[in-house]
Amino acid sequence: MKAVVVENYDSIDGISIREMDLPGVSAGEVRVRIGAAAVGFVDGLKVQGLYQTKDPLPFVPGTEFAGVVDAVAGDVSAFKPGMPVIGMTRSGGLAEYISVPSAALKNLPAQVPFEAGASFQANYLTGLYALGERAYLREGETLLVLGAAGGVGIAAVQLGKLLGAKVIAAASTPDKRDFTTRFGADETIDYTKADWRDTLKTLTGGHGPDVIFDPVGGEVALQAFRSIAWRGRHLVVGFAAGEIPKLPLNLALLKGASLVGVFWGDFARRQPKEFAHSIRQLGQWYAEGKLKPHVSQTLPLEKAVEALKLMAARQVKGKLVLTVG
Ligand SMILES: NC(=O)c1ccc[n+]([C@@H]2O[C@H](COP(=O)([O-])OP(=O)(O)OC[C@H]3O[C@@H](n4cnc5c(N)ncnc54)[C@H](OP(=O)(O)O)[C@@H]3O)[C@@H](O)[C@H]2O)c1
Repeated sequence: MKAVVVENYDSIDGISIREMDLPGVSAGEVRVRIGAAAVGFVDGLKVQGLYQTKDPLPFVPGTEFAGVVDAVAGDVSAFKPGMPVIGMTRSGGLAEYISVPSAALKNLPAQVPFEAGASFQANYLTGLYALGERAYLREGETLLVLGAAGGVGIAAVQLGKLLGAKVIAAASTPDKRDFTTRFGADETIDYTKADWRDTLKTLTGGHGPDVIFDPVGGEVALQAFRSIAWRGRHLVVGFAAGEIPKLPLNLALLKGASLVGVFWGDFARRQPKEFAHSIRQLGQWYAEGKLKPHVSQTLPLEKAVEALKLMAARQVKGKLVLTVG
């Protein structure tokens, strides 16, 4: 099979597409013939050795995929060859085949394309967990989404609207801001402008945002927290800007505000029942047509290096997906 292989951590250009042996199927495992695999910001960090955990070299990157069951271990009864599935893994998703424990897979409804299935889980589960379980976002509240045209950002925009909030989307270019409007944002802000906090104040009638969804970090996060409403909740989701901000804690005191961490991977491990409920809720919204995961660009697996470079250069809106086979 073909696979994307990281041989060293020197540069994205060091990644190669190689022929590898088909993975075997051990007890409890299912082998999937992958149809599409998503590329996220974290993949860009992982292939450069910049993520908090490093995979031993060489390794196949890729954490989210969709495809068809190809082979099943004798002790697995939940899946049969030919079933469409989606899956999450720590690595190995950017390949033609992958073997994973059956618990890593979920059924993919037949009408959902692989591209949408591969890009749904991490971003939408993070968004729902953050807004619902961590911020208790209520109908009528104002939600500010930073990095709103990115993968997890656009999921938060859509989910914020579904939960009944007024959504203000912050992004760096007119094209990105238009994109967030198409996905339901009520207002947009150019947060690269020096006076963007004044605009935010005007848009919220002086009140400030009740909830801030923050996958960006850096100076923008600090400025956003300074603008938060009384009893606001600032969701710490990620640091795409590359800098972990240091917040003066008196700001939290003055606003009665909360700084709330979001780590959906551990949510899945530590609260499996609530996690399963989130998956059912998202599946239902998808089936009812209330959620439309957007794949802004697809490239063939062979163009993995180009895809990772686009992510690193801040050129991707929504989700970028590699098609396989
Ligand atoms: N906590 C969790 O459970 C969880 C789950 C999923 C993702 N995350 C994290 O969330 C962050 C975003 O992930 P994503 O997949 O949504 O990434 P993405 O699609 O690349 O979006 C990130 C956004 O951040 C903005 N940004 C600002 N400064 C940037 C910079 N220097 N480089 C790149 N982007 C920059 C960009 O928007 P503008 O150009 O408009 O500024 C971009 O659209 C990552 O740190 C990821 O690790 C966390």
